[in-house]
Order: sequence, then C-alpha cells, then structure tokens
Amino acid sequence: MKYTTDYKRILELFEENLPKQFGDGGFNTLEKSMEYSLFSGGKRLRPVLMLKVGELFGADFNRVMPFAAALEMIHTYSLIHDDLPCMDNDDLRRGKPTNHKIFGYGNAVLAGDGLLNLAFETAINNITDKGTLTAAKVLSRASGRCGMISGQSADLYFENKEATKEDLEYIHKNKTAAIIRSAFEMGGHLGNATTLEIVILVEFANAFGMIFQLTDDLLDKYGDEKTLGKTIGKDEKSSKSSSLYVIGEEKTRELISTEHEKALNLLDKLSVNTEFFKELLNDTVSRKM
Ligand code: IPE
Ligand code: IPE
Ligand code: MG
Ligand code: MG
Ligand code: MG
Repeated sequence: MKYTTDYKRILELFEENLPKQFGDGGFNTLEKSMEYSLFSGGKRLRPVLMLKVGELFGADFNRVMPFAAALEMIHTYSLIHDDLPCMDNDDLRRGKPTNHKIFGYGNAVLAGDGLLNLAFETAINNITDKGTLTAAKVLSRASGRCGMISGQSADLYFENKEATKEDLEYIHKNKTAAIIRSAFEMGGHLGNATTLEIVILVEFANAFGMIFQLTDDLLDKYGDEKTLGKTIGKDEKSSKSSSLYVIGEEKTRELISTEHEKALNLLDKLSVNTEFFKELLNDTVSRKM
C-alpha cells in the first residue's frame, strides 16, 4: 500500500475522533477561538505518526487516540502563540487568517492556553497503566522547557543576532523536533516497543524533525503561499536565524541529505515494517506543504 493511502486512513480516523476529545464547556468566545484553530485543516502529521507507531507496535487506535489528540492540541496552541505579534507576527495560518486576526490578541493567548490545558486534561484522564503514564510524562517534558518552549525561546533570542551552526541545531532540535520525537516515543510506549526500539524510533524522529524544520525554512523562501497556507518571506523580513541565513541554502540542502541518509539507516534497524516512514520521509525532503 502506498503510504499516502495509509496516511489518509489514519487521518480520517483521527479527524473523526478529535471532536470527541475536544468536547465542550467553555465560555463561548474561548470555545470558538479554540475550535477555529484546532479544526482548521492542518496536516495532522504528529498524531498520524503517533497512531502509526502505536499500530506497528500493537497498540489499539482507541488507546493512542487521546494522546494523539493531546499532541495536536499542543502543536496547535504553539502555532497560535507563534503567530502572535509579540512572536512571529503572522497573518496567515493553515490558509486562514491567524487566530488573533479574528479573535484579538488577548483571546488568541487564551485560546492557546485553553488548548494547552485541555491537552493535559485529555492525557491525564487516559492514564490507566504504566504505558499511558509514561506517554503523559513524555508529552509534558517534550512540550515544555526541555523541548518546544525552549526552542521557541531560543528562536526569539536569535532574531537580529548572529547564530552559530550549533545555535541553529539547538533551535531546530527543540522548537520542532522535540514534539515530533515525542510522537514516536509515546507511540512506542503505548505499544509494546522495547527500550532499544524506542531509542531507535526517537533517533529517527529527531532526524525527521530536523528535516521538517530545514524544509520549513526553505519553504519560507521558495514555497507557494497558497499551497503552504502561510505567508512567504517572513523569516528574512524578521531577521530570523533560519537555516538559510545561518548556514546558507547549499549547506541547508546538504544537511537535509545527511539527515535523510541517517534516518533511512535507522529504519533498517527496526524489525517492524517501516515502509510508511520510509516513503513519508522520502517525500518530506522535497515537500511543498
Ligand atoms: C508548522 O508545522 C510549524 C513547524 C514546526 C514548522 P506543520 O507544517 O506541521 O503545520 P500544520 O499543522 O500542517 O499546519
Ligand atoms: C515554529 O517554527 C515552531 C513552532 C510553532 C513550535 P516557525 O515559526 O518556523 O513555524 P511557521 O513557519 O510559522 O509555521
Ligand atoms: Mg516561529
Ligand atoms: Mg512562525
Ligand atoms: Mg517557518
């Protein structure tokens, strides 16, 4: 089966389940603003990856689903906050006006906060055994100061500053790869992956995450606004320490191939069928959206 068919199958199950995990209950404006961003048609890459890992290691979709939903809630909150005027100041996200353009700055902050809290509420409510407890711990660590939030902080710090190759690696490893690593790690713990298999999955996810941000940096310059659903040229305009401006385009492309090769070798070390990840990875290195 080509991976795109499989991706679609998992995506449909996820989309069907997400409203159930979202539920309701808040003040009308808050509800509308949280819904606006969560149900706005992102690629859902991270939950799909987690559900696929879980499936490969014998975990039922129903077991993984709440954690996949929680991760997408955290990802979406990070995007709402990332787009705020005090951060990247973006007007377009997922092909629509950014959250603060519709609901105002204050409410966009709260929509992000609401999704972050809901993510942990969802995860905690589904702790039933050691695997689910470990998944919740992985989620909280990866999305916090030992992961995504630190990466975002470093990303802001290096605006208008000279960053080194190592600084760039720190930013990418944390702001983007941490959440992607956690998708694989949680999937492994929710299933029956061994400690060694989880180590390999996480290393693969790290390479994948690095490629994902390196290609995001390229798309910021060369992407098509309509296909991408976000504004082009923002990194240069905001003097971001994106890979294009720290190491240059040629080195960025070289780094993508190095990480690509590393990631493929890691997949060979796993005994489960990794065709899905291989094909997805091969498409990601030259992705358009
Ligand atoms: C955008 O992530 C933010 C980055 C980490 C580069 P995605 O490209 O996965 O965004 P959506 O979820 O599909 O909108
Ligand atoms: C954002 O990186 C990463 C997170 C939201 C954690 P970018 O700022 O490059 O993402 P885009 O380009 O706005 O999607
Ligand atoms: Mg940013
Ligand atoms: Mg941004
Ligand atoms: Mg970007």
